[in-house]
Amino acid sequence: MKNTPMISARNLLVRYGKITALDSLTVDIPQGVVGVLGPNGAGKTTLIKVLLGLVTPHAGSFSVRGTDDLRDMVGYMPESHCLMGSMNAFELVSYMGRLSGMPGTEAIQRGHEVLDFVGLDEERYRTIDSYSTGMKQRVKLAQAIVHDPKILMLDEPTNGMDPPGRRDMLRLISRIGMFGKTILVSSHLLHEVEQICQHVMIIDEGKLLREGAMDQILSRDEGRYRLKVRGSPEELDGFSRAVGALYGVVSLFDEKGQTTMVLEGVKGGGEILTAARDTGVQIRYFRPDVLSLEDIFMEVFSGGDVGGY
Ligand SMILES: Nc1ncnc2c1ncn2[C@@H]1O[C@H](COP(=O)(O)OP(=O)(O)OP(=O)(O)O)[C@@H](O)[C@H]1O
Ligand SMILES: [Mg+2]
Repeated sequence: MKNTPMISARNLLVRYGKITALDSLTVDIPQGVVGVLGPNGAGKTTLIKVLLGLVTPHAGSFSVRGTDDLRDMVGYMPESHCLMGSMNAFELVSYMGRLSGMPGTEAIQRGHEVLDFVGLDEERYRTIDSYSTGMKQRVKLAQAIVHDPKILMLDEPTNGMDPPGRRDMLRLISRIGMFGKTILVSSHLLHEVEQICQHVMIIDEGKLLREGAMDQILSRDEGRYRLKVRGSPEELDGFSRAVGALYGVVSLFDEKGQTTMVLEGVKGGGEILTAARDTGVQIRYFRPDVLSLEDIFMEVFSGGDVGGY
């Protein structure tokens, strides 16, 4: 990891009765948007609560770079609805600003700014009880960022939101991430995490199963490329044979006038271009075959004795 970690956790152990929610979890969390992935009950919320100081681990320790007092630095968007329903959003958010030590006028101004940012307009003067789930999620984000913390913990931030709401929420998180913040986002929605996170950790049964920079986690190191070519059946056949003699063919799919192949062991693409020219096919697509987080999940949860997902 090129940067010093923002949060370092060592051997965190949390038990609830017989359940081990965190099982000697050791992880370094860098700056940026960091996804915490795992199935229900994996320990995501517990990890966030430990890092917030809301749950004391039975063993292990963690440190946050540059501070002893977490409270000023951290914003928290909980999983459950924690909002005071009889207040309106503006009252709640400016109140949270006051609680973090802002003078009244600043808390009022900042309250309006963050509600503008999350897209709550006149509704901010209605009591929170009357809000839709999506609006509540927006207020939860607003109250987490009102004091401009360096670190944000967002526990399932898109929960209960419709597709446009989810898209908005992901954009907001990405925008906050651009300001040099560290944002821990727990989720079990892999494609969402893939869109916004630069770093990811996968946990299950309180254990860290995989972690790393998103681009490293999703890249293949064996030179896998996905290739689409068009041509007549004879041309396509000739091309498949030619590249099959050069590289490993992971998969091959023929449809009318087009062949899609995944090759491995490819270095550069010169020989593929030559084979295309020699056999008369047209290359329509030729790119490294990156994985999706879903592939990684399948890999992590199907191998070893981790258990099913
Ligand atoms: N207060 C508690 N009392 C007893 N058990 C708990 C408590 N909080 C969490 N657990 C248990 O600890 C384990 C981890 O729970 P946690 O809430 O951290 O998981 P999660 O990954 O956030 O799951 P989800 O995706 O459902 O939110 C689960 O088995 C859960 O039942
Ligand atoms: Mg949870």
